[in-house]
Amino acid sequence: MKALVYEGPRQVTVKEMPDAQIEKPTDVLVKITTTNICGSDLHMYEGRTNMEAGRILGHENMGQVVEVGAAVDRVKKGDWVVLPFNIGCGFCTNCEKGLTGYCLTCNPGFAGAAYGFADMGPYSGGQAEYLRVPYGDFNCLVLPPDAKSRQKDYVMLSDIFPTGWHATRLAGLMPGESIVIYGAGPVGLMAAHSALIQGAAKVYIVDRHPDRLKLAKSIGAITIDDSKVSPVDFLMKETRDLGVDRGCECVGYQAHDAEGDEQPDMTMNSLIGSVKATGGIGVVGVFVPEDPQAEDPLQKKGKLALDFGKLWFKGQTVRTGQCNVKHYNRELCNLIHNERANPSFIVSHELDLDKAPEAYERFDKREMGWTKVILHPGN
Ligand SMILES: NC(=O)c1ccc[n+]([C@@H]2O[C@H](COP(=O)([O-])OP(=O)(O)OC[C@H]3O[C@@H](n4cnc5c(N)ncnc54)[C@H](O)[C@@H]3O)[C@@H](O)[C@H]2O)c1
Ligand SMILES: [Zn+2]
Ligand SMILES: [Zn+2]
Repeated sequence: MKALVYEGPRQVTVKEMPDAQIEKPTDVLVKITTTNICGSDLHMYEGRTNMEAGRILGHENMGQVVEVGAAVDRVKKGDWVVLPFNIGCGFCTNCEKGLTGYCLTCNPGFAGAAYGFADMGPYSGGQAEYLRVPYGDFNCLVLPPDAKSRQKDYVMLSDIFPTGWHATRLAGLMPGESIVIYGAGPVGLMAAHSALIQGAAKVYIVDRHPDRLKLAKSIGAITIDDSKVSPVDFLMKETRDLGVDRGCECVGYQAHDAEGDEQPDMTMNSLIGSVKATGGIGVVGVFVPEDPQAEDPLQKKGKLALDFGKLWFKGQTVRTGQCNVKHYNRELCNLIHNERANPSFIVSHELDLDKAPEAYERFDKREMGWTKVILHPGN
């Protein structure tokens, strides 16, 4: 089968790889019709993770079931399915509680498994013609009859729509409250979409890319261009020095200033500054335990120079981590099916798999207009 393979920093190629196949009776084999490039892929693409050369990338996947293992009862050949990026077993103590991002079975010695991801187990990604899905009955979300025609929306259930939603839940957002989102990439835009659906009174979003801010504005968010103003000063003025009720971190450890200089602690300290005393902060942007390539000596060891005293004085709550996609995807699917959510508003490019290397390069540069790339290996 054709697949996109990570060869080394900023080097990915499309080539022939051994076909994905059923390896255990609980597996499902999916023909991938739509798969996305994610901001998380860029951490790997840039060589800022332990990703091994020769592995197939891609964790935002959907398609049609072509084969099921002998122990699969529920999922049938021909079903249209979307796969959470986290792989769960369904029976460990974390999966039982809905914490499928921290499955204890699928990646022994580590809590959490995913497709085509550094440190998350040996599983191949779905930027390929076929994908092996472990524990298929548990992991496949079978989609409604409009699946084929609305793939651009449903594919977002694999990661970024639930992840954006998760950011607002970690922050503790309530209807009528205000919220600020740092980062207007795909995840930040999904957090804004989620906050508006949940009835936030005011949704602020911070970035410096005009195309991304424009998209945020188009759904009703209030945009803050941090290359022009200090977001903390702006938000303090807006809230008569009280701060906003809630905040989301949707950037991660490669946060940088508007000139491009990396400052891994920048977004967290801005959140501590802009959220009210007793407010909640949800962190879905990825931070890593070590980052040898970082310039900042603290960041090399996975540490941040956090304004912890200020956080403590303000009595803020910080909640972090990977999204447990399965915990949200069925209900978010209902929102899409009933036209209450349309996450596809962020899609800027739909391409064949062959075009993936160029797409990685351009998305990585955050070129104007390259907001979210979806690939169609099935074409
Ligand atoms: N927790 C999870 O389960 C989960 C799931 C998916 C993605 N992620 C992570 O979420 C993060 C965002 O993903 P994405 O796809 O939107 O990535 P992206 O890189 O496309 O977007 C990040 C955005 O942040 C902006 N930015 C950078 N520094 C900033 C700063 N100091 N202030 C404000 N904005 C700043 C960039 O301009 C960019 O638009 C990544 O770290 C990704 O790995 C986490
Ligand atoms: Zn992703
Ligand atoms: Zn499990």
